[in-house]
Amino acid sequence: ASPPPSEQPGAATAEADTISKVLIVMGAIGFARLITAMEAEAMPLVHNFKLDEAPADESIFPKDAPWIRYHGKYKSLHIDLVRPGKDIIFGVDSVGTVSAALLTYASIQTLKPDLIINAGTAGGFNAKGASVGDVYLASDVAFHDRRIPIPVFDTYGVGARKAFATPNLLNELNFKAGKLSTGDSLDMAPQDEEAIVSNDATVKDMEGAAVAYVADMFSTPAIFVKAVTDIVDGEKPTAEEFLMNLRAVTTTLELAVVKVVDFISGKHISDL
Ligand code: ADE
Repeated sequence: ASPPPSEQPGAATAEADTISKVLIVMGAIGFARLITAMEAEAMPLVHNFKLDEAPADESIFPKDAPWIRYHGKYKSLHIDLVRPGKDIIFGVDSVGTVSAALLTYASIQTLKPDLIINAGTAGGFNAKGASVGDVYLASDVAFHDRRIPIPVFDTYGVGARKAFATPNLLNELNFKAGKLSTGDSLDMAPQDEEAIVSNDATVKDMEGAAVAYVADMFSTPAIFVKAVTDIVDGEKPTAEEFLMNLRAVTTTLELAVVKVVDFISGKHISDL
């Protein structure tokens, strides 16, 4: 059973109003320089919602940050979609928790969203029923690579939190539900595996728990939409399977987020 809306993370004050500002924090899709700026313009999300890229000289972000923002009105919503952009030194997408947390922080400060949707790709566990192309809505998030074996620091490190529960959205859109575990590695070291099992995770990503940490800090409800690019406990090497499926699964992910946004439009936070 999901907790009543008033007991949910971030829901303390938002009950009365229809959702108006949605912040979509995208994972660093495009990982290995696969997605160019032109392709980004064709991204189903940017395209469907007719979002415009915010010009660099009017950026809400500090000028040295590589973060990218698209924005626009869609139905009753104001949508901001942010991406971490390219690493300034290495030129690849800024994958991982550090970029995700900074981007989420800066976005919340200026945009003050009613709801955050963290959307990205994930590895899935076959043993937990995941297949490539599945879209998960995370019920819980936690870290699997922050080992601090001192009482209380240990649970702080794991940082387990509930996602904002959206039982109606889950019912209506037929996504799978499962727990999400976050770490800064694409591969899985044995100690990470142990922690992922202990987190009871079905999907594994590189951003979710970091976005959740920041969202919680500023009492902003957050949900996590994760599309499976690779099977962690399968036969294929993770990086190879990830790269092979990235393009198709990114489209699946974005179409899923379009459905989520359509569902959210016109609703109160407590209707989700
Ligand atoms: N994103 C896509 N696949 C992943 C994996 N196996 N681990 C972490 N993040 C991912």
